[in-house]
Amino acid sequence: MLVVMLLAAATLRLCPLARAQPLCRIHTVRTGKMFHVGQPTQGVHLYFSSATARLIKHPCKKNIALYLGKQLFLTRNNFESSLLPFSIPTSMQVGIPEVTSAHFASSVLLLVVNRKVYIYDYEADSWNASIGIKHPVSQISGDNCCYSEHPFCLDISNSVFAYLLGDLTSQTNIYFSNTQGYRFQKYAHERQAELVGTLGGIFYFHSLSQIGLLLIDQGKAKFGYSDHPLNHSLGLPFDYNGTLDILLTPGQKGILIFWYENSLLVSRNAGQLVDPVPVREGHHILYSSISEANVTIHSVAANENELAVLTRENNLYYGSLGILSSFLIKFADQNIWSQEAVLMFTELGILEILTPLPDSFFPAFDFQKCPVNIQAILMDPQLQVDFCKVELLHGEFANKMFIIDMNSELELSALMIPRPGTSPVPLAMVSNPYSLGLQAVIYEDSFTYDGNTKHRLNISLRQQHHWGRADPNFTSSIKRPTISTITLDIANKEISCVDLKPLTALISVGCDLEKKIIIQNEISACSKGILNPVALQDNYSYLIEKEAYDPNFRRQRATKDLVVYYPYEKLGCPLLVYYDTPWKPVVELWRGGKFQEVMEAEYVLLEVNGLFTYTYSLTARTALCTSQPQNWTTVIENAGDKGPFIWDRENYVSCHDPKNDAPLKWPNVPYQILGGPTANKVTFEQRNGIYVFFISIVDPYYSYCPLQTTFSVYVYGAFPLPLIPSEITMFLLMVAILLSVWLAYIIPKALRTEQGHRFQLLVQLCRRY
Ligand SMILES: *[C@@H]1O[C@H](CO)[C@@H](O)[C@H](O)[C@H]1NC(C)=O
Ligand SMILES: *[C@@H]1O[C@H](CO)[C@@H](O)[C@H](O)[C@H]1NC(C)=O
Ligand SMILES: *[C@@H]1O[C@H](CO)[C@@H](O)[C@H](O)[C@H]1NC(C)=O
Ligand SMILES: *[C@@H]1O[C@H](CO)[C@@H](O)[C@H](O)[C@H]1NC(C)=O
Ligand SMILES: *[C@@H]1O[C@H](CO)[C@@H](O)[C@H](O)[C@H]1NC(C)=O
Ligand SMILES: *[C@@H]1O[C@H](CO)[C@@H](O)[C@H](O)[C@H]1NC(C)=O
Ligand SMILES: *[C@@H]1O[C@H](CO)[C@@H](O)[C@H](O)[C@H]1NC(C)=O
Ligand SMILES: *[C@@H]1O[C@H](CO)[C@@H](O)[C@H](O)[C@H]1NC(C)=O
Repeated sequence: MLVVMLLAAATLRLCPLARAQPLCRIHTVRTGKMFHVGQPTQGVHLYFSSATARLIKHPCKKNIALYLGKQLFLTRNNFESSLLPFSIPTSMQVGIPEVTSAHFASSVLLLVVNRKVYIYDYEADSWNASIGIKHPVSQISGDNCCYSEHPFCLDISNSVFAYLLGDLTSQTNIYFSNTQGYRFQKYAHERQAELVGTLGGIFYFHSLSQIGLLLIDQGKAKFGYSDHPLNHSLGLPFDYNGTLDILLTPGQKGILIFWYENSLLVSRNAGQLVDPVPVREGHHILYSSISEANVTIHSVAANENELAVLTRENNLYYGSLGILSSFLIKFADQNIWSQEAVLMFTELGILEILTPLPDSFFPAFDFQKCPVNIQAILMDPQLQVDFCKVELLHGEFANKMFIIDMNSELELSALMIPRPGTSPVPLAMVSNPYSLGLQAVIYEDSFTYDGNTKHRLNISLRQQHHWGRADPNFTSSIKRPTISTITLDIANKEISCVDLKPLTALISVGCDLEKKIIIQNEISACSKGILNPVALQDNYSYLIEKEAYDPNFRRQRATKDLVVYYPYEKLGCPLLVYYDTPWKPVVELWRGGKFQEVMEAEYVLLEVNGLFTYTYSLTARTALCTSQPQNWTTVIENAGDKGPFIWDRENYVSCHDPKNDAPLKWPNVPYQILGGPTANKVTFEQRNGIYVFFISIVDPYYSYCPLQTTFSVYVYGAFPLPLIPSEITMFLLMVAILLSVWLAYIIPKALRTEQGHRFQLLVQLCRRY
């Protein structure tokens, strides 16, 4: 009786499993074997150092992946054909062909083989050893940007770190490359020598515009960051058992996955907070972390918003990487684990268990695949999964790249269709709130169309700084361009929303390359008939006297006169300026061929040929400077040999800045900054002629762009300078004085005569000129 009851209980427990449909159906890829037959396997076969196999997918190129196990396999068609084990040419002389780390950087595969970095360009089928690494390394880390071909995005893909895992952080040598790993340079982390613990990894968190260094000390790990404001303290510590593998999920959202045999941790903010992933069953939490489940993790796969875990116990866990939280659910068991098996997402909601199979007759391996259709599995009522409350989430902005410059904002829009009778909450998050306090605000309105309620979401993205209530602790160095992502998702989205991918765009908080400045030229010397445009275009040249210019921009006379050819194609007709009127140009901001505004920010001018026959109406004192202002002489001197035109928003320091501690020693020097708070103007000396000015916007808060241009002015109305040497002038002056003394004596007499009238006329004429 007891036996029967036990048996019944056992059957009951087994029943759900027995009834559950299989997770996946196995098939084997076996193609192109004959093709490889005659081909000798050149080079040395590589193998992976760890006992458990790994799979690395190219984040941007769907079909490219590297399998790392007892053999390595590099596929360019998602393992849809049999493959020869991946080998390295003997000419590379690697020694022990053991691979400890691999990474795709754009179009190359980087491998750490026997503690050195090698590059395989799979498009050109060529190998190179990287240059610049002087010490053994074991790991390589980097990220790929799939949003666009913009230089910002390319920079992300080209940046790579190489380091030795587990080395003492204070003494270790870390290398950085911005050339896809071809050339490395030593990387010095700020105050590295003071850091306690061993190195658990170093990553460029583009989503935060910070470099994060993982420090491990006594079973705990924490991140140290490179830049303000996060560099002031270390991140929150988390448990570090074993040697955690760290995955950066694609899309620069700052989602990290840390895992080892019995730990699985996730961070949604580039390591600032790292939490275990709970396992749920229905609505309740079964285990607060997977380590409680007494399983041994074998393989982990993740894409932008999904996570899957395969354990040695043949368990498969699936979860979503939500905007607010992540959790896993356990799928029914199936005999799918083997030492060589790896997990990978082939597309949204399609997971594959991949195992290479050797073939006793051919050198090429086959691939056993078991594709899991997540959506279909989640239909199983046993899993008690809630239905997805959202039918559609769509926005044209997804997967694109946008630029926000200073004083700009970005409006994105999306459409959300909720399941009737539900009210899901859309949520927009920026990955890098430190970048000038970037904030996203959603404006939502709903309308009914075809009996369905649709929600229009307007997402307004701006820099908190410009809303006038920025917390300085929450804004990074304002001068530094940064990157962030914005993600639109549904708060506490059900796990069944498999097809509902969060919408993410990359935001470059930096220079908007479409911006430029133009100098208003309403009254030109040609329109007033002072210069002839035909003559100007015909290889026009003019002379600058040696007294008026300094080729070294130090305001010292030159040794010979200068002939200048006027570049009409570039500058057009010069602006007309009357010498006697203090002047400053009207600077216009244009964007993509459209006028935006008249610029009021601070800028500086420099005559490109070294003319110094002009000065400024204000001095350091009258400009109300509280510290000694910069000027061209000091800026050029400080820049070394970078050429004269180097004054820009990066090196500009305002003399009104309370933090500027240069004492005001020379209050009477001319104040060379125009625009901004002062009414400073340029005053010309008595000299007619063409001036070609370089203009540079130095206000660091106007735009991230180096806004610079050149333009020309024609100064007119000045008397020609005396051509006679000064001794003769002296002599003539003496004569004139004597003459006037004599006149003073003679005129009263002469006025009474006829001649007197002619004299009067002469005096009047003299006055007029
Ligand atoms: C790769 O190595 C070859 C010689 O082996 C060299 O000619 C070539 O310039 C290298 N490529 C790069 C990008 O450094
Ligand atoms: C943090 O970084 C900023 C520059 O980004 C630097 O000026 C500051 O000294 C650093 N602070 C610490 C505590 O390292
Ligand atoms: C790591 O090990 C410590 C004890 O050494 C244990 O308390 C902790 O739960 C473990 N954490 C994980 C995530 O396995
Ligand atoms: C895990 O194993 C420990 C002892 O090894 C045991 O106390 C615990 O009940 C097990 N947990 C589960 C969920 O099986
Ligand atoms: C969203 O933007 C559209 C187009 O600019 C506008 O018509 C609509 O009123 C906006 N909705 C909200 C809620 O701001
Ligand atoms: C910024 O942070 C520092 C120390 O972390 C704190 O003393 C200061 O009050 C903070 N400033 C603001 C404006 O919150
Ligand atoms: C302009 O004149 C200079 C000197 O006479 C000559 O070398 C140059 O070729 C001329 N350029 C053009 C475009 O005529
Ligand atoms: C530039 O500034 C320095 C002091 O910083 C001053 O000594 C010098 O005279 C200034 N030069 C000119 C041309 O104003």
